[in-house]
Amino acid sequence: MSTRYPCCGNRRGSPTTDFYISIAKNFIFNKINLNMTSQELRREFLNFFIRKGHKIIPSASLIPKETDPTVLFTTAGMHPLVPYLLGEKHPFGKKLVNIQKCVRTRDIDKAGDATHLTFFEMLGYWSLNDYWKEESIKNSFNFFTEILKLDKNRISVTVFEGNKDIHRDTKTAQIWETIIKFPKKRIYYLPTEDNFWGPTGQIGPCGPCTEIFYDMNLPICGKNCKPGCHCSKYVEIGNNVFMEYEKTDKNKFVKLKQKNVDVGLGLERIAMIMQNATTVYETDLFLPIIREIRKYTGSTQANLKSERIIADHIKGAVFLISEGILPSNVERGYVLRRILRRAIRYGKLLNLPKNFLNSLVQKVIEIYQNVYPEIKIKQTDILTVIQNENEKFEKTLEAGLKELKSQIADCKFKKIKNLTGKVVFDLYQSYGFPLELTKEIAKEQSLEIDEQGFNEEFKKHQKLSRTASSGMFKSGLADASERTVKYHTATHLLHQALRQVLGNQVIQKGSNITAERLRFDFSYPQKMTEEQIKKVENIVNEKIKENLLVICREMNLENAKKSGALGLFEEKYGEKVKVYFIGDPSDSSRPVFSKEICAGPHINRASELGHFKIIKEESSSAGVRRIKATLD
Ligand code: ALA
Repeated sequence: MSTRYPCCGNRRGSPTTDFYISIAKNFIFNKINLNMTSQELRREFLNFFIRKGHKIIPSASLIPKETDPTVLFTTAGMHPLVPYLLGEKHPFGKKLVNIQKCVRTRDIDKAGDATHLTFFEMLGYWSLNDYWKEESIKNSFNFFTEILKLDKNRISVTVFEGNKDIHRDTKTAQIWETIIKFPKKRIYYLPTEDNFWGPTGQIGPCGPCTEIFYDMNLPICGKNCKPGCHCSKYVEIGNNVFMEYEKTDKNKFVKLKQKNVDVGLGLERIAMIMQNATTVYETDLFLPIIREIRKYTGSTQANLKSERIIADHIKGAVFLISEGILPSNVERGYVLRRILRRAIRYGKLLNLPKNFLNSLVQKVIEIYQNVYPEIKIKQTDILTVIQNENEKFEKTLEAGLKELKSQIADCKFKKIKNLTGKVVFDLYQSYGFPLELTKEIAKEQSLEIDEQGFNEEFKKHQKLSRTASSGMFKSGLADASERTVKYHTATHLLHQALRQVLGNQVIQKGSNITAERLRFDFSYPQKMTEEQIKKVENIVNEKIKENLLVICREMNLENAKKSGALGLFEEKYGEKVKVYFIGDPSDSSRPVFSKEICAGPHINRASELGHFKIIKEESSSAGVRRIKATLD
């Protein structure tokens, strides 16, 4: 395993130092108060814990590898350490420190406030069965007060008040009070939601924690405002988790065989304090991006939230793409799609020019390239992925917005307060509108969305997909909207055209259709030539122009085979099957172009398809090629 230490370059001459100086100049130029740059902060943190006998471990991937498969992203520095928290020996020893890139999807909607981010860096340190509560509390407190010189009077702390499974953490409160000499009036007992941390998925290491807050000197938001309150007055800057429990799949908390301390400090939040900023967006980790946006918009109070969301999301997207994640409708790809599309949409709100994200990508790279060189290395991929997604979204956005507006108008006319689950699902499925986007637009119009209804539609759709993959419905359609049905018929034309051009060894190996494109996998051993691709495209377009009829006939399987209909014969068909003909089998004056056993659905006439274009031909697996094509 190659190790990379995020920020321990020497102070003179290294790229790290140059980077630091350039950022610093930038800030002096812009009259930003910079008591400590983020780069200095990283360095001070690592050095402090190295002096205390910790070994640096590299930042792991954003995609957790060895831990709970239900967790999409690395959300904390402890993720890659789970086996060691459970008792395995770590090759670097018992005291570790690092800076971990993290993504928290639950904070996507909070991005744009003062302190919550989708992507952030966690300054983390661990004791794996080495020191325990007292030393770790001293470490955190000393780092904040002696190294960073934070004002002690603005610090307050919270401890675990206990629950039915685990007792109140009076020991920790006592350490704060008697060892640290911390004023009792600023020690707060809080419940499980606030002061019991983990596990990251359903099961795993966890424990009570003590959190450290910094008072931003803002007015209280109400009489119950105290550390843990969600207004921005008290900012959580550190969390010491006393990981001595494991949550089991039986929902029980059992003692681990060792006592661990897992500590996380938010780099951006501490940078905010060190740089005398009031939000994380005014730090050197964000300002270059924000300034780039303001080149187009100027700065107004009304734009603040949108520009922050764009800045947060583009940063998250850059890091996700650098890990090889591509936008899609599931799992990690969906998160990427969601933040990218959200950034694009907020860009539209601010009237940013087309492709504005490209210049923001450059800024993200400038900020991080010396800390996470992978994003510089992947620069071209990142730009391509974003550009492609932008184009896709542009196409669907317009059509989807029209549809959404008409649905909203309908709701208003009928005085209904909810967009139905079906409407929201159709927007998701046919126009690529993330649920959250529809929710947000609806909210702007004072409407709610029926999220439960959406989930039900979603489940129905999943069931349909499962049916499809079990062979009853092999069309590979994502749904049965008008657009996907067209793509489905185009797939049959493509299949036959490929056989005409490449020979009858071509047979369908897979199909996947969305509202935006068809994807078709077929057996063929080598890359198609430009000329072959053109020929296939031409044949399909000719057949569309000929306006062939699409006819469905039900027949028994034997007759279907005899008729020469293509089918996936390794699949189980019922006794009766549907055969789709493109070209009328009862019209002897014109030959039928394609015959396939298929469950449908299909359009009625080829001319409904418009213009067919192959956008990509590539390898899918050994001996299988993949074509992606669109209709305009
Ligand atoms: N794992 C702890 C957290 O993320 C430190 O807050």
